[in-house]
Amino acid sequence: MAELSVLSGRKFAKEVRRNLAEKIEKISGRPPGLAVVIVGDDPASRVYVSMKEKACGRVGIVSTAVNLDESVSQEELLQEINKLNESPSVDGILCQLPLPAHISADVVASAILPEKDVDGFHPVNVGRLWRGEDGLFPCTPVGIIALLKHHNIKIDGADAVIVGRSNIVGKPMAALLLRESATVSITHSHTSDLQGLCRKADILIAAVGRPRFITREFVKPGATVIDVGINRTDDGLVGDVDFENVAPICGAITPVPGGVGPLTIAFLLSNTLKSRTNGVVS
Ligand code: GUN
Repeated sequence: MAELSVLSGRKFAKEVRRNLAEKIEKISGRPPGLAVVIVGDDPASRVYVSMKEKACGRVGIVSTAVNLDESVSQEELLQEINKLNESPSVDGILCQLPLPAHISADVVASAILPEKDVDGFHPVNVGRLWRGEDGLFPCTPVGIIALLKHHNIKIDGADAVIVGRSNIVGKPMAALLLRESATVSITHSHTSDLQGLCRKADILIAAVGRPRFITREFVKPGATVIDVGINRTDDGLVGDVDFENVAPICGAITPVPGGVGPLTIAFLLSNTLKSRTNGVVS
């Protein structure tokens, strides 16, 4: 069997950012602008948002933070989004999830102009994704496809199995793998033979949010295993894959941390540049 390859998202994200910074430097006129809306003070969301802002600064994207109190009404939030929709210096808008219970994430996603929807959550972008058209698509799955291609991992004709059916990762991941001509299964908590299905996968994507859920019994020897999980446990940050247990039998695997996480942010920057240049990224 070929030697195990640990796919460093951190390293690849650095390369992606360097590339973006070069392109952004060449833009004539104003730099790209990203507005990041955060409601309330969930500590994990605060960390993600500050990482996103920092990453913007490093590549030459101007970020604007919109901090709203936990008690803000949905109507007030929609008014803020509308201002950003109309702002000529804002190319991308994202509203950090989760939102407080009195605000609908679906309503918010639909309020952001599709052309500024750098998360790719607007129904128009979801439709474009499934129809095979160009558009803005969710950053984590876009980053995973780019990582697989960067490492010359064959997607065309591969059996791909996704564990998890979220709108942020599972479903868009399936659409993007399908575009690349993989045969795709989306599994979830009601799947009858989860282990058996996963064991058939050439590419296994774990996005369940359960620490070390994927053990070697789920993995075909030589498979590529992509771990999207970020679980805070007493042992620190761990993925959805039991890395120590799985790594010895798989062909390639992403670590946590340093795997998929950095890619999500790098491809948020990429989507912001795409918005600034009206979809044309040379
Ligand atoms: N919360 C967790 N992941 C994401 C994401 O990709 N985008 C937004 N807006 N919020 C999130």
